[in-house]
Amino acid sequence: MAGALVTSEAAANDPAAASEAARCLARGGLVAFPTETVYGLGADATNADAVAQLYLAKGRPSFNPLIAHVADLAAARHLARFDERAERLAQAFWPGPLTLVLPKTSSCRVAELATAGLDTLAVRVPATPGASGILRGFGGPVVAPSANRSGHVSPTTAAHVRADLSGRIDLIVNGGPTRIGLESTIIGIFDKALLLRPGGLPRADIEAVLGERLADLPLDHRDGAQPLAPGLLASHYAPRTPVRLNATHVEEGEALLAFGNSAISGADRAVAVLNLSERGNLADAATRLFGDLRSLDGKGARRIAVMPIPEDGLGEAINDRLRRAAA
Ligand code: TXA
Ligand code: MG
Repeated sequence: MAGALVTSEAAANDPAAASEAARCLARGGLVAFPTETVYGLGADATNADAVAQLYLAKGRPSFNPLIAHVADLAAARHLARFDERAERLAQAFWPGPLTLVLPKTSSCRVAELATAGLDTLAVRVPATPGASGILRGFGGPVVAPSANRSGHVSPTTAAHVRADLSGRIDLIVNGGPTRIGLESTIIGIFDKALLLRPGGLPRADIEAVLGERLADLPLDHRDGAQPLAPGLLASHYAPRTPVRLNATHVEEGEALLAFGNSAISGADRAVAVLNLSERGNLADAATRLFGDLRSLDGKGARRIAVMPIPEDGLGEAINDRLRRAAA
């Protein structure tokens, strides 16, 4: 029962960890594991009870579907139908921080609850040895949302997972800090290829392989009654402390999340200051973003002021998460 479990921990580089995690998944348990993006909270995708426990442990609304994680493209083809565009993207970017939303196959055994009744499935092949070992050991699809309580900032360390989910899940596999630090980019392959969620793989890389521009989510699907990416509600990824974006000065009682090395007025009176990247590097900023938001959230500041971040490359996903944190 959620809230009453003893959560054990294993090191991802311990050869026994993958088999322990696989056994735990096979008996319907919940296992947090590191991917290159953020930590995921895994459950056997074909076990409806395990999936129900997963929603409960996260406090996640059950209309928000999950990503199925598999070890390789061959395994993904059993679950979802790949057209030529999907095939090309998978070949180019898997394993890696790309999730594809595709029509389910008729033999797809992923529990209905995990797809919230949609006839599409989100699928991805994560790139860390820790995740691959678990997926190969388990031998079936693993649904895994980010391993945080619903609405919180995604976890980029095992300590973040512990803080949110200890006592509510069975096992945490600790692989150290995640390399990318932002969730995967989600692409829906419909008539057009749609960017459903900007993430750890920049838009331009995907467009270069597709040979066409990605369409953005139609506005009426963003927060509407039938969202194409149901989890993309405005207030997601939110620290408890209010967030103020594009700050060009620091106000009384604010903590500062800086970017770059330009001076900003009032920084000397900030409750706390963290810099996403002094040299203005967006990949470094992505890696630090969620951890820094969590840290500043604990400083008792009235508000977190965030300096402007350029919109190019990973900046699109960073700004997307910051806008949600501020919503
Ligand atoms: O990097 C990631 O993607 C991480 C790691 C653990 O793999 N996972 C992750 O999962 O971010 P989650 O559940 O926090 O976000 C998945 C998003 C949600 O916004 C959900 O609504 C959307 O994917 N999604 C899942 N299935 C979908 C579908 N069939 N159609 C559209 N959106 C879908
Ligand atoms: Mg999430």
